[in-house]
Amino acid sequence: MIALGCDHGGYELMQEVIKYLEANNLEYKNFGCHGESVDYPEYGKLVGHAVAEGVCEKGILICGTGIGISIAANKIKGVRCALCSDCFSAQATREHNNANVLAMGGRVIGPGLAVKIVDTFLNTEFSNDERHVRRISQIED
Ligand code: RB5
Repeated sequence: MIALGCDHGGYELMQEVIKYLEANNLEYKNFGCHGESVDYPEYGKLVGHAVAEGVCEKGILICGTGIGISIAANKIKGVRCALCSDCFSAQATREHNNANVLAMGGRVIGPGLAVKIVDTFLNTEFSNDERHVRRISQIED
């Protein structure tokens, strides 16, 4: 189950992400918003809690820049939210950081790239290398 959250700045791009998830039969839980003007921290935290508490395995967050919503999500213990605007970062953050939430900027990237980033993020496994496990445990301290 993938937790989704966005503000008004990310709403349009989130509809493209939803199309991708549905086309690939991937289950999601949409925490909103639904296009209205909202405050992004609420959605970052809702998705962060869903992932940290194990309700959802991963999360996807979108605001205008992806910055505010990723900062909010990263306040939740256990969340490793990575703001990505390219596929290399999406792959690396799964392999190295075991990122469990992806953030993107709806006013930064287009739908074609965003869907590729989502696809990369969801289909890349954590490397489990000892050095990466050690470094992640240092973040959690
Ligand atoms: C909302 O206008 C905008 O501030 C928000 O979407 C986001 O970019 C914040 O980081």
